[in-house]
Amino acid sequence: MLVLGLVVGGASGFFLGSALQESAPPQGEVVEVVGKVPSWLRGSYLRNGPGVFQGSHLFDGLARLHRWDFSSDGTCRVSARDLDSKAGTFYRKSKGKTLFNEFRTPIPLSRWPLSLAAGGMTDNACVSVAVSNKQTFACTETVAGTYAIDPHTLRSRQHSFSGDESGLVQTAHALPIDRGDFVNVGTSFFPPRYNVFKLKDNFKKKEVIASLRPHDSRLSWMHAFGSTRTKAILVEHPCVYDFTALLSTDGFLEWAPERGTYVHVVDLNSGESTKIKCSRNFFFFHCCNAYDDDDVDEIVMDVCAYDDTRIIDSLALDKMRDPASDIPESKILRLRIGRDRVKEEGPLNDAGATGKFAEFCAINPAYARRPYRYVYTNAAPNRPTSAANGLAKTDVLEKRTTIFETENKYVVVGEPIFVPGGGPAEDDGVLLVVGHTQTDNHLLVLDAKTARELARVHNPPIPYGFHGAWLPSSSGGL
Ligand SMILES: [Fe+2]
Repeated sequence: MLVLGLVVGGASGFFLGSALQESAPPQGEVVEVVGKVPSWLRGSYLRNGPGVFQGSHLFDGLARLHRWDFSSDGTCRVSARDLDSKAGTFYRKSKGKTLFNEFRTPIPLSRWPLSLAAGGMTDNACVSVAVSNKQTFACTETVAGTYAIDPHTLRSRQHSFSGDESGLVQTAHALPIDRGDFVNVGTSFFPPRYNVFKLKDNFKKKEVIASLRPHDSRLSWMHAFGSTRTKAILVEHPCVYDFTALLSTDGFLEWAPERGTYVHVVDLNSGESTKIKCSRNFFFFHCCNAYDDDDVDEIVMDVCAYDDTRIIDSLALDKMRDPASDIPESKILRLRIGRDRVKEEGPLNDAGATGKFAEFCAINPAYARRPYRYVYTNAAPNRPTSAANGLAKTDVLEKRTTIFETENKYVVVGEPIFVPGGGPAEDDGVLLVVGHTQTDNHLLVLDAKTARELARVHNPPIPYGFHGAWLPSSSGGL
């Protein structure tokens, strides 16, 4: 169990602390639920994220999967398991050695032969969860870092792809399209290309539909992209790979604002593409939604946008543990993409209410790739803060934002996921999100319509996490 005496760092540092690494992951532990979980919420919430903080940056943590099972008898059970990756297995067997170069944690040169023999690129799939028709996957940005998950046992095995080559890396956010297929963007370095591909046959077969040249010789690092029903939208922002710094603890990315920002629009059927320059630079991790606005012949794409890449530096563990640290500002930015120009609108959210912060966006999945009204994001209503500490609901039509009310004050709030239910309206449903207080953490069940707390699950000590997915009882949830 967590021992507060072992807490590392600042006021909100325990969720990244080394003490958590020593605690045994829960195995179907029945946990206390305060409040009332809606009777229709039956299934499992599966969340990915770092479990062991082996390096200097949040993105270097070794993957641990957490699962919350909401049963018909009203109980909730929590389970967790470290991913069965080569990176994680080596770390555990070697008692703390790193097998691969991670985001900002390079390995010593003496370990390169071992690393290359194991594939050379990390398979630490700690970022996201993708659910196809038949299988659940843990993913990161390397192709090697895709693991098929047994949602019941949380055991995992490395997944391989067939079909076209798309490059060594791909975004961590493959997007579902029609008939159970996905679309994603791979990046190949020699020659430099962005490869837009469809994933068919249960996440198995890659079919490259467009191979795009970067604006110049440098490649933009893309964590995510957007997709409407007919188009993929790649934003080539000035956060570019810098291979000369590949082994540096400062990372392999460079902010090159002189380069400009470009939007590539790719037709999902023909593969034809266009490139349009934006009037200003910005950076983003995540796309809230995108859709075709046929009335005005434009594509709408909403992102959680930053002015630059300082957010990446701010996610270094020493910064996150520093109570004086303050995360950079971000906002929900709307891109209206026409045939030859991009108009930027926004912020769509209320800067004052959100503490000028928006990240980890969630919508009702039934509204993905179509006009929508509500987006739920992290916020930072209490600054200074080294991490998001609030949750916001934004009406993108009215540009109105509401901050969720909770019984406790949280110093860190993770990604919300939206689970539809209880009615037909877009905001009929709940948000599931992990919040950390100074000493404890809860899985919150929040009413998406009223922005109020319905119930909170008292978790065993768990670390900060990234992305997750809801598995209804009918499709893999328990
Ligand atoms: Fe992400």
